[in-house]
Amino acid sequence: MDGFSAELLWRGLLSLPGLALATALLVLVLCLGGRRSRRPGEPPLIKGWLPYLGEIQNFQKMPVTYIKTLQKKHGDIFTVLIGGKYITFILDPFQFQLVTKNHKQLSFKMFGHKVSYNAFAIKMLLTNQELDHDLHVCYQYLQGKSLEVLFETMEEKIKHNFESRLLRNRNWDTEKMLIFCISIVFEVTFTTLYGNLLVADKKKFISELKDDFIKFDDIFPYLATGIPIELLGNARSLQKRIINCFRQENLAKFKGWSEFVQMRQDILEKYYEPDNSEIAAHHLGILWASMANTIPTMFWAMYYLLRHPEAMAAVRDEIDHLLQSTGQKKGPGFSISFTREQLDSLVYLESIILEALRLHSLSATLRFVENDFLLPVKSGECLLRKGDLVCIFPPAVHRDPEVFEAPEEFRYDRFVQDGKKKTTFFKRGKKLNYYIIPFGSGASKCPGRFFAVSEVKQLLFALVTCFDLEVIDETPVEQSYSRILFGVSYPSSDVLFRYKVKS
Ligand code: HEM
Repeated sequence: MDGFSAELLWRGLLSLPGLALATALLVLVLCLGGRRSRRPGEPPLIKGWLPYLGEIQNFQKMPVTYIKTLQKKHGDIFTVLIGGKYITFILDPFQFQLVTKNHKQLSFKMFGHKVSYNAFAIKMLLTNQELDHDLHVCYQYLQGKSLEVLFETMEEKIKHNFESRLLRNRNWDTEKMLIFCISIVFEVTFTTLYGNLLVADKKKFISELKDDFIKFDDIFPYLATGIPIELLGNARSLQKRIINCFRQENLAKFKGWSEFVQMRQDILEKYYEPDNSEIAAHHLGILWASMANTIPTMFWAMYYLLRHPEAMAAVRDEIDHLLQSTGQKKGPGFSISFTREQLDSLVYLESIILEALRLHSLSATLRFVENDFLLPVKSGECLLRKGDLVCIFPPAVHRDPEVFEAPEEFRYDRFVQDGKKKTTFFKRGKKLNYYIIPFGSGASKCPGRFFAVSEVKQLLFALVTCFDLEVIDETPVEQSYSRILFGVSYPSSDVLFRYKVKS
């Protein structure tokens, strides 16, 4: 738990209603916690000595090392009590599809809809299957032809952002990298999806929304795990402030919505009265999904690119080749334009983004066990208990030395082979289907993955072609585990870098 969130939690717990609720919870969990023991056929059970909380401390401190230690001792499947939830970890990548394939018995919806309720105050999804179905149909507007349009809009927004802010100064400018990435990703993503703002002070509106969003995102893992919002300091007022920005009267001030936002809004208006604030809560859900992981992905990709001269040289080289082959020249300002296909041909650029995701994606694929269920694993059958969670934990494969040589190292060309994208990775001599899984898998796989990767590519491409860039701090940046299971990690500290418009 980082300082801000811990403080929030304590402040909440120490308030009077907080104390009463915490005591009631403790009594309840003391009664329930002691009772569980491993049944025949169930995976090894690790409960820790703390009732309810179980192994939460060990897990939060060094999650990847901790899970690997358990794997050595108990094998590829075991159940751990973490903060009131019994989570069965499935760590063998050849068995991941058992989890995603059995979607009737291991459901995403139950878990996903509870998260939407706890974190975004969306109630209707808990009871209305059709709304869920219709909203899923909308994900097609983040792909295919719609993605091409989004790609072009994104390019325009980046151009505008660079020309109005970054390209004005001809001298070296110094900024903190995380703050820089938050600001640029937030503005580009928001304006690509929601269009331009027709308000008196656009900058103030976006900047306040961004600041509230970052504070909200910090609390998100606690909300998602079901800690009541009332216990989390000012979380409710933060949530309300963001939701208010998307109320009917404010939505009317966003001009040039993407097809994706427009289609979702049309569907929401079929299910709710137009002035129902739950429509705005759905917008908070999309705001979170589109920003929360893209920001840290941009940070890590930029950080590694700047920290590794050999990575920067490879990217500059492939960009120069692309410029030559398309007859374009680097001129002053933002004068170059590419299609998505052309940008996708930059294999080193993509490899750096994948490598950043390999090292820092902590998002788990979680499924809720609807009823006691026998999972047909390679060693026979494994009994999963109703009400538990099952978890595919990406770091188990992302940091497996059998799959990735020296897995702790950043290697800019890890996903390139013979000048092409490398897609074959092996374990126990067998080709893996799941070797990089930052976007989840199965029914809940991220529908915004192409949008996100295109955005990070476009931003890095623009930075590399417009600027000379240097990291100033040489101290390595560590990752924070505060978002374990729920996203790409943030750095535990920021880092200074400088940039200057290329002459
Ligand atoms: C690098 C950036 C991103 C990463 C790493 C990421 C990762 C993920 C992951 C791990 C999931 C959950 C999968 C699961 O539970 O199994 C997810 C879901 C989702 N993501 Fe992303 N995401 C990113 C960017 C985006 C963007 C830019 C958008 C929208 C424009 C988006 C929209 C969504 C939505 C709507 C869902 C929920 C899907 C559902 O309801 O089934 N994501 N994402």
